[in-house]
Amino acid sequence: VERTLSIIKPDATRRNLTGKINQKFEDAGLRIVAQKRIHLSPAQAGKFYEVHKDRPFYGELVEFMASEPVVVQVLEGENAIAKNREVMGATNPANADAGTIRKEFALSVGENSVHGSDAAETAKEEIAFFFSGLELVG
Ligand code: GTP
Ligand code: MG
Repeated sequence: VERTLSIIKPDATRRNLTGKINQKFEDAGLRIVAQKRIHLSPAQAGKFYEVHKDRPFYGELVEFMASEPVVVQVLEGENAIAKNREVMGATNPANADAGTIRKEFALSVGENSVHGSDAAETAKEEIAFFFSGLELVG
């Protein structure tokens, strides 16, 4: 089985969508093996999204992710990384397929409700960024 790092972003926690989003993950066969609500500092959000530091939207992205609490979680399952990205839908909700989280809940390309790791190596790094081994209950 595979694990991936998921974040329910401030636009979604603010609208009390955590339960509905988690239902989508569980319906897709993804098990939530760790989960916590945290409020990222701008420095922490900036570090997490460092790969995007040269993109024009970096400042806006960091400010948004530190604006209000997020729920960080580890999802486990068969092909969890790809499956999660399928359930999330396209980055821009305008391009997301029907039934995906972003199609149903995202407000814009920036405020798009969820983050999911994009590859095995980044999943490992991102899980370690937020969780210790003791917090992962498979
Ligand atoms: P993540 O799972 O959050 O990494 O989304 P992604 O892999 O679908 O998108 P990508 O890694 O390309 O971009 C990371 C995040 O930056 C996106 O989820 C958006 O929140 C934000 N982002 C991407 N493009 C734009 C943009 O054009 N404008 C703004 N404001 N934010 C953007
Ligand atoms: Mg990404």
